[in-house]
Amino acid sequence: MNNMAAIETLNIDERNRQAAEILRTNDRGGYNIPTAGLYPYQWNWDSAFAAWGWSEIDISRAWRELETLFKGQWSTGMVPHIIFHEVDEGYFPGPDVWGTHKTPQTSGITQPPVAATIARKIYEKAPQAGRASVEQLFKPMMDWHRWFIEQRGESGAIAITHPWESGRDNALDWEAAAQSIDISNVGDYTRRDTSHVNPEMRPRKIDYDRYLALVYLGRDVGWDESKIRELSPFRVADVGMTFILLRACRDLAWLAGEIGESRVEIDGWIAHLEAGCAQLWNEELGCYDSMDLKTGKLSGTKSVASFLCWYAGVDPKSTKTSLERVLELAPFSLPSLDPASSRFDPKRYWLGPTWPVVNSIVGLGLAEQGEAELAERLRKDTFEMILQTGFYEYFNPMTAAGEGGNNFTWTAAVWLAWVTKGPAS
Ligand code: GLC
Repeated sequence: MNNMAAIETLNIDERNRQAAEILRTNDRGGYNIPTAGLYPYQWNWDSAFAAWGWSEIDISRAWRELETLFKGQWSTGMVPHIIFHEVDEGYFPGPDVWGTHKTPQTSGITQPPVAATIARKIYEKAPQAGRASVEQLFKPMMDWHRWFIEQRGESGAIAITHPWESGRDNALDWEAAAQSIDISNVGDYTRRDTSHVNPEMRPRKIDYDRYLALVYLGRDVGWDESKIRELSPFRVADVGMTFILLRACRDLAWLAGEIGESRVEIDGWIAHLEAGCAQLWNEELGCYDSMDLKTGKLSGTKSVASFLCWYAGVDPKSTKTSLERVLELAPFSLPSLDPASSRFDPKRYWLGPTWPVVNSIVGLGLAEQGEAELAERLRKDTFEMILQTGFYEYFNPMTAAGEGGNNFTWTAAVWLAWVTKGPAS
C-alpha cells in the first residue's frame, strides 16, 4: 500500500467510526433525530434511512426505528412527517401550531414512503431475525400505501398538499403552484431554523410564509383530507413521491411473498402508478416532472426527483441524456436542481445542493437498471465529499463544501449502508 492509499484507509476507518457515533449520539431511545438543534424530533423518511444505517450495526435497533415510526401512524393510515416525542422549544412550528391532537403528538402531513423499501433491505440482511418485524409492520405499511392511493392518487400520480411532504421543501417544482397561496393571515412568527444554520442555506421568508399558511389551513379544517382537497390552492402531483411510492409498493409486494400475505391489492396499485407516471413525462425537458393539479401544467423543472425513474423501475426514456448533462455542469455530484436553471443556487437547500441521501436512492436505481457506470460515479462522488468534509446535511455541488446541519443522521446512515458498500449495493 502506498502512503496515499494508507492515509485514505485511515480516513475511511475514522469516518466509519464517526458515522456509527453519529447514529448513537442522535439516538433518543428507539428513534433517531436528524441532527441536534435544527431537527430535534423524529422525521419520517429520515427515520427510515436511519434504520438502514442501523442495520449495519445492530439489526434489532434497525427494526425498532421503523416500529417507532409507525407508532405515530394515524387511524386513516397516514404516517406523519414529524413525531414530536418530547417537546423542544428550539423547533418551529411545534406541536401546538400543528394542532393535530394525537398521541404521540405529530404533524398533520406525510413524507416520502421509503419505509417498505428499507424494510426489505434490512430483512434481506437477516431474514430470520426480521420475519417477526415484517409481520408486525406489514399491515401498517399496507394501510399507509392505501391511504396514498385513496387520498392522494390523481390518475396514478401522487399529490402532495404541502411542500414539506415532498421532503424537498423549497424545490422549484412547487414555485408556480405556491404563488396562489394566500399569506395575508400568517402574521408574525419567529423562525428557529435560521438561528441554527446560515439563512443563505435555508428557504426564503416567502417560502416559510407559504408553509405556515398551508399548516394553518390544514389545522383549521381538522386535517380532514377531503376539506383540504376542496379548499387548498396547493395540490401538486410530485414526481418524487410518485416514484418513491411505486418503488415502495414493489418492495412491499416482495415482502408479502416472504411472509405469505397476498400481493393482489399491491399489484393493482403498482399497475395504477405505472400507468400514472406517463402523465408526468415532460418531453421538452427530457425527464419526468411534477404537475400543478390546479392548472394541469407541468412545472418545467429538472430536479433530482426526476432521476428516480430508475429507482421506480419506470421507462427512463431520454432521462439518461438529461442526467448526463446535469452531471457535466456540477463537478462534485448530482445537484438537486439543474445548474442550467436561472434559479439554481448551490447553497440553498433544494435549489442546488447535492444530498447524499437522495444520491443513494438514485444510485440504487441506476445500478439495478444496468446503468453501472453512472451509479458508480454517484457513489464515488458521494464517498469523496463525505470522506473529505464530513457528515453534512447537504453539499455544494460546485465546490464540495459541506452545508446545512452537521453530524447528520441520514448522511451517516447512507455512508454505512450504501456509500462504502461498493457497486450495486
Ligand atoms: C428538511 C428536509 C427534509 C427532511 C428534514 C429533516 O425539512 O427538506 O427532507 O426530512 O429536513 O431532516
